[in-house]
Amino acid sequence: MKHIAIFASGNGSNAQVIINHFKQHPDIKVSLVLTNNSSAGVLKIAQQEKIISTILSKDALQDEENVSKILKALQIEYIILAGFIQKVPAFIVQQYKDKIVNIHPALLPKYGGKGMYGQKVHEAVIADKATLTGITIHFVNENYDEGNIILQKEIAIESSDTPQTIAEKVKHLEHAWYSQAIEALINN
Ligand code: GRF
Repeated sequence: MKHIAIFASGNGSNAQVIINHFKQHPDIKVSLVLTNNSSAGVLKIAQQEKIISTILSKDALQDEENVSKILKALQIEYIILAGFIQKVPAFIVQQYKDKIVNIHPALLPKYGGKGMYGQKVHEAVIADKATLTGITIHFVNENYDEGNIILQKEIAIESSDTPQTIAEKVKHLEHAWYSQAIEALINN
């Protein structure tokens, strides 16, 4: 069995889709949900799905000994970021080279980097009068949103679109593609 951890800070809609996707999978299992946010919706999802969850503050996430212990105890081989707002510490990036994946709600390398998350991304896309947006699934390195790209999917922006309508369309794409991309990567 390949065990994966989901790191998330928010509602966890992507986390839920990923958990559902792998529920009956013969050799891939979501075995940990890690969050920095004690009121994250993703914690409720983990509880309902009977998946072990842990809350680690920004400082606690830097505690290499403790974090490595948790990941090792659960035999975590892949880390999936699904709306995780903290930077992944360098020691995790090194231990999990090419095994940490993120999804970004725009077409990187544009509209990424520190502070570019949620509505801010879609607002920047509109302010730029872009005609396309989409999703980017990419490996995680030590810099925000800079790891190698695994998959991008585009959608056209209509003149009637607002940050809210773009957010909905992008969420839809995320839910359609993230689990598949993860499965393909693990099975490579
Ligand atoms: C997604 O839009 C993803 O692109 C970004 O964070 C958001 C998480 O949303 N990295 P949710 O918590 O999965 O609904």
